[in-house]
Amino acid sequence: MTGRYVVIGNPIAHSKSPEIHARFAAQTCQDMAYERVLAPLDGFEQTVRSLIGQGVKGANVTVPFKLEAYALATSHTERAQAAGAVNTLTFSEGAIVGDNTDGIGLVNDIVRNAGTEISGKKVLLLGAGGATRGVLLPLLQQRPAALVIANRTVSKADDLARQFASQGNVRSCSFEALQESFDIVINATSASLNADLPPVAPVVFGKDTFAYDMMYGAEPTIFMRFAAQHGAAVRDGLGMLVEQAAEAFFGWRGVRPETAPVYAELRAAL
Ligand code: ATR
Repeated sequence: MTGRYVVIGNPIAHSKSPEIHARFAAQTCQDMAYERVLAPLDGFEQTVRSLIGQGVKGANVTVPFKLEAYALATSHTERAQAAGAVNTLTFSEGAIVGDNTDGIGLVNDIVRNAGTEISGKKVLLLGAGGATRGVLLPLLQQRPAALVIANRTVSKADDLARQFASQGNVRSCSFEALQESFDIVINATSASLNADLPPVAPVVFGKDTFAYDMMYGAEPTIFMRFAAQHGAAVRDGLGMLVEQAAEAFFGWRGVRPETAPVYAELRAAL
């Protein structure tokens, strides 16, 4: 089954998705092509329709088009619906199916790759923007004992906690009010982009805390360094990137690629 797939964003030159999917395809003997597509900021829908016309079967969607992709999809998976954003589109007989694999990518990286159970644990999620909303349902489906969302603008954390209240034990909190340690602390703020640290007190980290930054880079992020200084084990978001791609690949091709060798190659190339 031949297929052409793309990743759409603006900018897009930096995207690692083509490398990841090329490796998955080679590993699983899939006859598929995968390219980068730069969509104009005001031309996402037109770009998608043109790609569909050319016979493209699916697209990954990245910044800044995840909300537009949600709006364009004619149906949504449960996790895309909960995320309110789409990072994977599948085109089939006139339908545009929207999925979001970010949350399951995060969960698989924490549970399978890092060997840290989420079930029964106390989890702190920092941030209440798109990145947080994108991962909340898959995290809560792991049945943590409690999940606390802390955000600089507390009202945004309140809104998310309310919205996901039926999915598990989730509550919101200000950074200042955090007075206890957590088993797992996940940084879903965009603070690292500006070499900034979310204003979280060291008390949230204990000696058995696992701290995860959804960002990644050649060097540990400022959040990872801070968490490690206070005794936490740390991991960056490179594994999440590979795992969310694997889930998209599985959705399109029905085959599960092995992620560990691809992760190792990407890590070595950072
Ligand atoms: P994304 O899609 O990456 O989540 P976003 O929706 O703009 O982007 O959300 C950014 C998140 O990072 C928000 O939770 C933001 O906090 P506010 O809601 O208070 O703005 C958080 N954030 C960004 N920079 C931060 C900083 N320096 N310290 C703390 N939180 C920060």
